[in-house]
Amino acid sequence: MNDGGGRTFGPLGTALVIIPTYNEAENIESIVGRVRAAVPEAHILVADDNSPDGTGKLADALAADDEHVHVLHRTGKEGLGAAYLAGFAWGMEHGYGVLVEMDADGSHQPEELPRLLTALKGADLVLGSRWVPGGRVVNWPKSREFLSRGGSTYSRLLLDVPIRDVTGGFRAFRRETLEGLGLDEVASQGYCFQVDLARRAVKAGYHVVEVPITFVERELGDSKMSKDIVVEALWRVTTWGVGERVGKVVGRRGSRPDGRP
Ligand code: GDD
Ligand code: MN
Repeated sequence: MNDGGGRTFGPLGTALVIIPTYNEAENIESIVGRVRAAVPEAHILVADDNSPDGTGKLADALAADDEHVHVLHRTGKEGLGAAYLAGFAWGMEHGYGVLVEMDADGSHQPEELPRLLTALKGADLVLGSRWVPGGRVVNWPKSREFLSRGGSTYSRLLLDVPIRDVTGGFRAFRRETLEGLGLDEVASQGYCFQVDLARRAVKAGYHVVEVPITFVERELGDSKMSKDIVVEALWRVTTWGVGERVGKVVGRRGSRPDGRP
């Protein structure tokens, strides 16, 4: 993370709020309505993985009535990472200047979106953060808070990224930032996708800003968090961290001040 170095940032283009969904029939109408009210000029893309509960059909009905609402139908459940990659590609193809990540279940409050977008005027990437002063979680079981805080701390220390909430999923990217992250190489499927993008942004030297948010645990439907998602995250974060350390040691040994090997 850097301080922006006195840089000036270009104007923000139109925002696309990408909402990945898997079995969010009870939440989709409310979340789309809240986003429309909070940021009327923005567009919404629901990225649905063929939810068995009919979320995709409900989203189609919303899109039919509102030209700011779009739906990307995917063939099956492939994970949060794949849904976002497809959503980003769609958004860039359609010329949006800002790409936003947001959960469907109300945990990320659309009413906080204007604050994220205001912060993006002076940043390359804005992260909604539960673990900076002013940020908080409401109704989260202690076990989930422990997992999330632990995951963030482990990632921050191992990957050397100065971010308090590195797993969060309420974010706003400038399109130019996404273009510089090497998305073609991203293999993360589950929630470690968020760690992957944050670490890439820091390593690429982008100005990343954390903005405090209030994360409210869902009231309807179920979390898709699973043991597989935790295992993937632990495995990938550890592999990235160890890979970087080995790379640094080899790099140090291999380079002499005179430039000879
Ligand atoms: N299309 C698609 N495909 N959507 C998915 C999939 C998938 O495989 N898995 C989850 N989602 C959607 C859900 O429908 C929801 O809109 C959003 O992704 C987040 O899923 P939740 O299951 O509600 O996540 P959570 O509340 O347990 O986890 C939250 O905290 C994590 C750790 O901080 C989220 O904010 C995550 O983004 C975050 O990494
Ligand atoms: Mn949730």
